[in-house]
Amino acid sequence: MSAKELGVVVGRARTLSFTFRSEVRPPVGAFIIAEDKETGARVLGVVKEVTMTGAIALCDVDVLGEIKGKRLQEPKKPVTPGSKVYWPDAKELSEILLGGYKGEKLWIGRLLTHPEMCPVYFPVEDIARHVLLTASTGGGKSYTVAVLIEELLRVFEGRKDAPAVLVVDAHNEYGGLALPNKDPEQCEMLKQWGLSPRGFADRLIIFDWKYNPPRISRKFDAQRFAFLFSAKDYKWFFYIQEILAQRKKEKMDVEEMINEVLASDLHPSTKQAIVRRLRSILHSGILSEEEVELEDFIRPGHVTIIRLADTPLGDVGMRFVVADILRRLYDAAKARRLKTKVIIVVEEAHLFAPAKGQYDPVREIIERISREGRKLGLWLILVTQSPRDLSPTVITNLNSFLALRLQRRDVRVLIDYLGASKELAEVLVKLQPGQGYLRTPSLLLPVLVQVRPRLTCEAKGPYLREVEEIVRKIAEKTRIELEQRIKARMKPKAPPVPPPKPEVKPAPPKPTAVVRPPQPQVQREQVRQAEALAPPKVVVTRPTKPTVPRQPPLDIERVVSKFWDEVSALGPAAVCLVQELVLSDGELLLEYLAGYDESVVDALLASRVIKLDGNVVRLNREYFERLVGRIDDATWAEILRKLRSLIS
Ligand SMILES: Nc1ncnc2c1ncn2[C@@H]1O[C@H](COP(=O)(O)OP(=O)(O)O)[C@@H](O)[C@H]1O
Ligand SMILES: [Mg+2]
Repeated sequence: MSAKELGVVVGRARTLSFTFRSEVRPPVGAFIIAEDKETGARVLGVVKEVTMTGAIALCDVDVLGEIKGKRLQEPKKPVTPGSKVYWPDAKELSEILLGGYKGEKLWIGRLLTHPEMCPVYFPVEDIARHVLLTASTGGGKSYTVAVLIEELLRVFEGRKDAPAVLVVDAHNEYGGLALPNKDPEQCEMLKQWGLSPRGFADRLIIFDWKYNPPRISRKFDAQRFAFLFSAKDYKWFFYIQEILAQRKKEKMDVEEMINEVLASDLHPSTKQAIVRRLRSILHSGILSEEEVELEDFIRPGHVTIIRLADTPLGDVGMRFVVADILRRLYDAAKARRLKTKVIIVVEEAHLFAPAKGQYDPVREIIERISREGRKLGLWLILVTQSPRDLSPTVITNLNSFLALRLQRRDVRVLIDYLGASKELAEVLVKLQPGQGYLRTPSLLLPVLVQVRPRLTCEAKGPYLREVEEIVRKIAEKTRIELEQRIKARMKPKAPPVPPPKPEVKPAPPKPTAVVRPPQPQVQREQVRQAEALAPPKVVVTRPTKPTVPRQPPLDIERVVSKFWDEVSALGPAAVCLVQELVLSDGELLLEYLAGYDESVVDALLASRVIKLDGNVVRLNREYFERLVGRIDDATWAEILRKLRSLIS
């Protein structure tokens, strides 16, 4: 028996199924070839079930088709009993699986069910049909995304038509793409695959809140306003549009917009609602003075990593940033201003495009891209451990599909949406990390794949520090390049128009190119930035009461400074919320809290900085009373005044 011979067809064969007898036990899902002993026809089949009788395996096979050249044709007649069964030649099988696809392809792994190395390719054009990559935690999602990105960088190296890749990196995991893999075990595996470790530092563009914050524009038009603050409030859209029209402007700086809204004759409650939203974002430290163009950070053949782990305002801020960037991409693509295809990787996709919940701008934009992105050149790779929590609209628009090890309840969703079989469910729950089921429109058949080892380093364990160090360098390099581009764009505009505003606002502190301060200090820097961006006094709505000229009975200075220390320790979002409260004379309507993470509110409640009172949230007088004993109204007013003066 030759090395490739497996067994002999036995019993009664049908056109679409037969059984063969073998001394080796092939895995379920294995591809085999039966060569008809009378006609010589070669039939490709897949093993569906194996029954052992002693040392002999009886294997039931589904016929997939007759091999003609590198394609499959419908089989004409059953295989003759007694015909020999072989393992297919790996190269031939790999080509057959590609089903005549001629475009670029990514080598993501090998066939799991084949004894020899049979390469499995992901057709690049199938990314255009959007990809769902799913697995339980630890199944190998992020690892596999890194492999896909490495392949994109390799295959399109030096080519003008290379797509750009944008990674929404919710957990700061993708910096390792910069460095070659250093894990001894994985390096050994790479050798077996005929590959060598390699880093792609020069192809990365990194944004990171510490070293190079994403520059989210301070300028709002009515569209952007309505989109980011819920398009359901359509009347707001018209109010903002009206204000812009009156000033003959297309966009307005957020601070100017606040003043215009306050000066308008809108109903006071509408004013309040609009201004609160604008202020919360203004104070968060998310917005930037500098105007960045998409071409500044989306480049062919490059990977742009938006690291979101330390985003101010937590979850809310993260969603704001992602919505804004995706919307810019979408608008540019729609207006044919985008010169390159962009592959958008969204980790934790179920958080950004959730199945449940009311209007949500991030979900809205991801849904739009999933519907129209193929034609627009915006291709999605959505990554989630929880497909049942992902928007069904999005899921139905994802046509390429890679599932690594899954939990049973999640397999069910895939069966419902993607028509995967029940047998598949059994396979998927038993896979090892890095093993999965791949189905894409161009592949002739779905395959079980062992994803190849990474060329690049994983950002974990002993390599984390080194990865973070190079991330810092690349982020700083990105920042310097961006600043140069922004400066270059400013130049031709001279002579400048007269300065627009009399009040000069301090620019947020610019990080320097030299070694960065350690993390805790940077946290404070963000807080300072948020403080620096606090609105000028003019926007305070209520007229302040004349302060009572009265000797304060306690050291207010000391108490207030202790208070800010404690609030600062709770993070930038807490600082923003408290600033808002202070500027509103110590109280706000409860609905205002909707703009903040629950954890921020909980922390402020737990430390008794704020308290809830019916439908309002208040600065908690008891916090101060705990420190200094009972406080009368006049002293409380004095404390508020002091707090306010520290902000402005
Ligand atoms: N193709 C693979 N080859 C080798 N190891 C892998 C592979 N895929 C995953 N792993 C291992 O499994 C671990 C978890 O993978 P990861 O991508 O972080 O999972 P997930 O993102 O799904 O939570 C990795 O750190 C790696 O050690
Ligand atoms: Mg992961």
